[in-house]
Amino acid sequence: MKRTAFIIAVVLIAIVSMLAYAQQEKKMEAKVDPAKEVANAVERGKALFNDPELGTSGMTCSSCHTAGGTKPGKMGEMTIKPFDSLNEKYPAYFMMAKRVMTLSQVINWCIMNPLKGKPLSWDDQRLADLTAYCASVEPVVEPVPEKKE
Ligand code: HEC
Repeated sequence: MKRTAFIIAVVLIAIVSMLAYAQQEKKMEAKVDPAKEVANAVERGKALFNDPELGTSGMTCSSCHTAGGTKPGKMGEMTIKPFDSLNEKYPAYFMMAKRVMTLSQVINWCIMNPLKGKPLSWDDQRLADLTAYCASVEPVVEPVPEKKE
């Protein structure tokens, strides 16, 4: 009798732990939403875009790339175009560095030069976040005033 009760208890414990494990697995699977992960990276990149800590010159990316890169910027006499589908544009010849670069390399170039900061390592999440943000930017199109007849 004692033995039967023991066996039943062992079997019950085994079933309960298996169920708990299956539940856990299910939860972990459901947790990762790739689209949401990218959206979060874009959000973090947007914050970094306004963070002077990336460099030492006191500038942020927004100092030159106006309104988060959505509007034309100014650098001295030079007009900087707003970001526009940069994921489709790069890799491309980058005039300022006089060579072909990926979007992440251009970002590091701006960190090292205007911001006077240290380049971010290829596996630094901040580099992926900034790249995700820059690639996500579409220029703000100012509404053209309607013509009066
Ligand atoms: C002192 C001004 C200045 C600052 C600050 C600056 N940039 Fe730039 N950035 C430029 C200039 C100038 C270009 C070249 C624009 C061109 O070739 O049309 C450029 C180009 C870029 C491009 C490519 C745009 C394109 O249309 O191809 C990206 C992306 C970029 N910068 C990201 C950043 C990021 C991210 C930061 C902050 C870490 C930053 N920049 C800070 C001046 C600046």
